[in-house]
Amino acid sequence: MTAADAPGVAARRLALDVLARIEDDGAYANLALRTALDRSDLVDVDRRMVTDLVAGTERRRRALDHLVDRFLTSDPPPAGRRALRLGAYQLAYRDDLPDYAVVSSTVAAAPKRFRGLVNAVLRQVATTPRTFPSPGIELSYPDWVVERLTTDLGESTALDALAAMNVAPSAHRRDDGYTQDLASQWVATAVEAGPGDRVLAVCAAPGGKATAIASSGAVVVAAELGAARVPLVAAAAARYGHGSTFAVRADGLHPAVRPGSFDRVLVDAPCSGLGVLRRRPDARWRIAADAPDRLGALQTQLVEAAVPLVRPGGLLVFSVCTLTVAESTAVDDRLAERHPELAPLPALGEPWLPWGRGSMLLPQAADTDGMVVFRYRVPVGSSATSPVESGP
Ligand SMILES: C[S@@+](CC[C@H](N)C(=O)[O-])C[C@H]1O[C@@H](n2cnc3c(N)ncnc32)[C@H](O)[C@@H]1O
Repeated sequence: MTAADAPGVAARRLALDVLARIEDDGAYANLALRTALDRSDLVDVDRRMVTDLVAGTERRRRALDHLVDRFLTSDPPPAGRRALRLGAYQLAYRDDLPDYAVVSSTVAAAPKRFRGLVNAVLRQVATTPRTFPSPGIELSYPDWVVERLTTDLGESTALDALAAMNVAPSAHRRDDGYTQDLASQWVATAVEAGPGDRVLAVCAAPGGKATAIASSGAVVVAAELGAARVPLVAAAAARYGHGSTFAVRADGLHPAVRPGSFDRVLVDAPCSGLGVLRRRPDARWRIAADAPDRLGALQTQLVEAAVPLVRPGGLLVFSVCTLTVAESTAVDDRLAERHPELAPLPALGEPWLPWGRGSMLLPQAADTDGMVVFRYRVPVGSSATSPVESGP
């Protein structure tokens, strides 16, 4: 047996390949991982190892650079740095793996010209106490994310949320077999649809919440703008739509729907995704710092466009999978100003927390994604929603 055939080397080599696809080619971590695993003949235990190594190394990138940079005198080329990060991840965050095995398998998986460097640096990382100069470096997030959530949630809640989102999520399956986080299932339940209700799900792809709502017996129109994403909704509707989910391509900003047509409207708006970072290991490095403000403005427009579609007495629900003020209470503040007739429903119960006139689910509360939801009753007789004649 050569060193390259030693246990775990193939898994580490594949992990390095996937990390290269993410960092050099801009591939999305989850997609690059799936593609690589589909093509590989690794056994299950190695597949799980690759998945964890890629996700963990990508997520902890900033912390890992800090750990290895203490022992570098110059910046190594990307392939060398990747191997150093991969090894440091295992040393610092995989207590189940013995240090000597981590060093030898990572060195063997590294490109030949970096093996000496990787060996020398990893040995030092293994034996030197690990300290971090700031929470942003220790938790491995861009500073703007730490600062934004600290401002919006308070320091200890923000840091707990960020720590919770460093742990990979466990999968939850609905009764009908669709894999969906509990937070999303609870948002669908919060729409309170029942048999025969007409529900519009605006911003519907890939169709998780729309099909969950349909399981109540409601008829759901699942509207999505992205042309490439509508087929995802159609596929989910065909398989999990309970025969009453209909995918359509539509712009939520300009809905071609007669006012007052729906008993319930859910606007599950595009957002910065700062509540679902545990699901996408590379997302924290991709999200632009101006995303919360930019998307908060779009969310306001989408929610406002949805108000007239709800029948008098019906329910409007606005949800996002993020935790920022700009994308939650700030949107609600503008809505309250422009639509004082909308009556907010009481906050959802535990594990949700009251958040302004809505509810927030923190990722550390119940091992779920982080979400915010606002629910409003459209009053009977509201002028904004009176049915209009559709013409002769
Ligand atoms: C948070 S995702 C929705 C997730 C989905 N509700 C689910 O539970 O599976 C937001 C979606 O809104 C779509 N979107 C963005 N702008 C839109 C618009 N103006 N009208 C309709 N959909 C839009 C995006 O393409 C994206 O698919």
